[in-house]
Amino acid sequence: MNSKKLIIIGGIGKGEQVLDCINDNRTNFNDYEYEVVGFLNDYTSDLICDLPILGKLKEISKFIEQGFYFAFAIHPIGKNQGIKPLLDKLNIPINQLATIISKRAFLSSTAKIDQGAIILAFAYISLHVQIGSCSMIMARTSVGHNTIVGTCCFVGTGSILSSFVVLGHSVSIAISCTILEYCQIGNCSVLGAGGLLLKDLPENSIYVGSPAKYLKNTQGL
Ligand SMILES: CC(C)(COP(=O)(O)OP(=O)(O)OC[C@H]1O[C@@H](n2cnc3c(N)ncnc32)[C@H](O)[C@@H]1OP(=O)(O)O)[C@@H](O)C(=O)NCCC(=O)NCCS
Repeated sequence: MNSKKLIIIGGIGKGEQVLDCINDNRTNFNDYEYEVVGFLNDYTSDLICDLPILGKLKEISKFIEQGFYFAFAIHPIGKNQGIKPLLDKLNIPINQLATIISKRAFLSSTAKIDQGAIILAFAYISLHVQIGSCSMIMARTSVGHNTIVGTCCFVGTGSILSSFVVLGHSVSIAISCTILEYCQIGNCSVLGAGGLLLKDLPENSIYVGSPAKYLKNTQGL
């Protein structure tokens, strides 16, 4: 099978984990849908996992014209206001956004996964969940039933979202967080590592701790 040529937008860390997921699907599950050919990255020109940096983000239009597919893996926790504007600026046609789902993840057949979402190994995506475009759901997460994750969100390793949770766009849930049912988190907000969220969290704010309390605003960071 001819694999679709894919470029990862990002680099060390989250980008590498996307690469690992795709290679695991290829090597261990005979899923050859995508083959990663390199990265777009503004900060390094060094090889990443033996793959080249093909260019900077501003050069993306030529790769779009050449028909490449893209995985968006830029989620700077704390600088959340920049995430969706950056994706919008890249202007990637929806049909060239790759949806990457680890074969080791569990997805309910009733879950709705938007184009461009990335779901890593051992994630558990329950009934009627919606995952927005270009959101990244890391390893060993649990997303409870009827939860809605907006576009460009990040759900960190080991985090648990209970049922009927709603995340706006560009929300980051750091590692090992717990969110109780029916909590809503506004656009561009962050729940810091190890946070326990008991109530709604407004837009553009960082909350930390157990139970989570206001730390600072994300605007201007
Ligand atoms: C939310 C977060 C970004 C805050 O980091 P920060 O803005 O650098 O915060 P600071 O280090 O300046 O800390 C400010 C205060 O908040 C406290 N604090 C910071 N993060 C905290 C957390 N997660 N839980 C409890 N308290 C926290 C600090 O102890 C400090 O308190 P002090 O002023 O009394 O000393 C950070 O906690 C976090 O979660 N980072 C992401 C980690 C992660 O998930 N990494 C995986 C990526 S793949």
